[in-house]
Amino acid sequence: MQNPLLRQNTPPNVEEIFGEGGNEFSLHPFPEGWYYVADRRSILKSKLIQKQWLGKDIVVWCDDGGAICVAESVCPHLGSSLGPEAGGCVRDGHLVCPFHGFTYNVAGTCVATPFSEPPKTARLKVLQTREILGLVFAWWGIDGRPPQWSLPEEPSLESEWSDLQLRTLRFPGHPQETTENSVDLAHFRYVHGYDNVKAVGTATVDGSCLVSRFDLKRRRRIAGVADLTFDVSATAYVHGLGYSFVDIHEHTIGMDIRLWVLATPVDGMVIDLVLVGQTREIRKPKRPLSGLGFLPVKLRTRIMNKILISVQKQDVLQDVEIWSRKKYRPHPRLCRSDGPIGRYRRYCRQFYQFDGDHDRT
Ligand code: FES
Ligand SMILES: [Fe+2]
Repeated sequence: MQNPLLRQNTPPNVEEIFGEGGNEFSLHPFPEGWYYVADRRSILKSKLIQKQWLGKDIVVWCDDGGAICVAESVCPHLGSSLGPEAGGCVRDGHLVCPFHGFTYNVAGTCVATPFSEPPKTARLKVLQTREILGLVFAWWGIDGRPPQWSLPEEPSLESEWSDLQLRTLRFPGHPQETTENSVDLAHFRYVHGYDNVKAVGTATVDGSCLVSRFDLKRRRRIAGVADLTFDVSATAYVHGLGYSFVDIHEHTIGMDIRLWVLATPVDGMVIDLVLVGQTREIRKPKRPLSGLGFLPVKLRTRIMNKILISVQKQDVLQDVEIWSRKKYRPHPRLCRSDGPIGRYRRYCRQFYQFDGDHDRT
C-alpha cells in the first residue's frame, strides 16, 4: 500500500509535500495539537495582545474575573482587526472593536453595540485554551475540530519551586524537527559536547504522549560564577509537537529542574521556541555551589534558575544553527547510536491525519 504520508501532487494539507524544487519534502507547517500562546503575566500587563499564531492573527485578553480568551482577530461584523494596532481595546473586561464598537465577552458573544441591540449571530471565533502554571495554550485542530487529547495535569506548585523564567527564540523551523531533539541522543554529544549520554529503557508511546528517559554528564563553567559538572537524569514527556516537558534531576548537587520546550509555528516559515525553566530550592546541596552558597535559599534558587535557563538557551542556540538550515528527510539513514528517531517519527504521524482520516497509529 502506498504510504499516505508520501503522496505526490496532493494538496498542501497533507503531512509531506513536494517542495518548489520538485525533489524536496517538507512537513505540513501546522500539525494538530496544543500550542503556547502567552503567559498570564504578560497578558495582564499588555491588556490586549495580538500575534500571529499558526498562520492566523489572534487576540488574547483577560476579563475582570481572570478568564482568558484567545480568539481570531477578525470582527464578525464587518471584518475589522481587533488588535491594538487597529485600535481594538479592552474595556471593563470586554473586547471592543475599533470600527463600530461591537463589544465581546470572553465567550466570544457580542454583548453590546453603540447604537442598537447586539446581533445574536455576531460571535467571535474563540479557541479552546488550557493554562499550566500561568502558561496559556490553545488548541489547533485539523479542519477546526475540537481537542482530541489533553495536556497533562499542572505540576504541583509548592512554595519550594522558583518562579518561571521564559526565553523566546524565533527562527525558521518546524515543531517536529525541534521536538525530535529530545530523542536524538547522538546530537547531545556531537553538538552540545555532553558525555556519557545513555538512553534509559526504550521510549514509550501512549496515544498523544511520548516518554523518553536518558542520563548524561556535562562539565561547564557557567556565567563565570560556578564551575559545575552536571550529572543528569532526564525524562522528556512530549505531548504533541508544541509541548515538551523535561523533568531533570541533577545528582551531584541534588537539584531538580523543570524545563518546558514550547514550539509554536508563527506563519508556516518561522517558529517561536519558548524555553521555560523552574528550579526547586536547594536547601542542602550535596556539594558547594561556588559563588552562590552564601545567598538566602530563595534568592539563590532564583539566580540558579536564571543561570540554568541561560545555559539552556545557549545550548538551543547551537541547535538553531542546524535547525534553521536543515532539510526534512522522510527516510533518514539512521545508525545504532541515534536513539529512537524511527519510533518518534511514527508517533508524529497522528498529528497529521488530514483528509478525514483520523486514525491513531
Ligand atoms: S467591524 Fe467590528 S464593529 Fe464593525
Ligand atoms: Fe539540542
